[in-house]
Amino acid sequence: MNKPYRIVMLGKQGAGKGTQSSKLAATLGIAHISTGDMLRAAAREGTEFGKLAQGYMDKGELVPDSVILGAVEERLSRRDCAEDGFVLDGFPRNLAQAEALDKMLEPEGIKLVINLDVSTEVVMDRLSSRRVCTGCGRTYSVHHPPASNWTCDDCGSEVVQRADDTPEAIGRRLAIYEEATAPLIAWYQAKGCFVTVSGEGDFDAIFEEILATVERF
Ligand code: AP5
Repeated sequence: MNKPYRIVMLGKQGAGKGTQSSKLAATLGIAHISTGDMLRAAAREGTEFGKLAQGYMDKGELVPDSVILGAVEERLSRRDCAEDGFVLDGFPRNLAQAEALDKMLEPEGIKLVINLDVSTEVVMDRLSSRRVCTGCGRTYSVHHPPASNWTCDDCGSEVVQRADDTPEAIGRRLAIYEEATAPLIAWYQAKGCFVTVSGEGDFDAIFEEILATVERF
């Protein structure tokens, strides 16, 4: 694939979308656009957009399309996305968002959708053991903690459990995935830009497979 890269990372909550997308974006020199990170940053800053999103996020519900679509469109319209491209992580999450994304990117559209495939059993374990940095958003887990006293190795901020990584919210999020997001698999398969990569196993091996997929597309 040549620039501009236009990649969507699809997968269940906990599949490793954030982990792998941030590394892919850094490697390709393109933007990593995580709608979850955008919403959490807005909530931390206390903007109207963030306040509106917070309640939905904490319960594990999707934020309404009317809230998220404008923010994504604005981000994609910036020069870095147009010239170099992007990896979208956490968007689209339903058919309405996928159709809106197609319109935003007319006439070219998305070039590649990578579906990170992980069993529900594995994601349940990953989400309940995940910890995140309150400063820069870097992800850790109880199995791979920061070097010192739950402070981030990169920025020194506190590393905590996400509010939506409780058993109730995880259950709700996975149910929403099956209902709203999983139908996107067939939708993108029909467009011929869809590849599934196993998201289970060693981080680096998964990344190598993702990179090889991008290179051969
Ligand atoms: P978002 O932040 O996107 O959360 P999510 O979809 O629930 O996805 P996660 O961040 O939980 O999982 P991930 O696949 O990124 O996994 P990660 O790399 O962190 O969204 C949060 C909320 O915002 C939503 O619930 C919703 O309310 C709202 N929202 C966001 N986008 C929206 C949209 N488009 N429309 C409406 N609302 C929206 O990895 C998980 C853990 O596993 C980590 O601890 C990691 O270290 C570990 N891990 C990763 N890979 C491996 C591996 N290979 N082996 C072992 N452990 C691994």
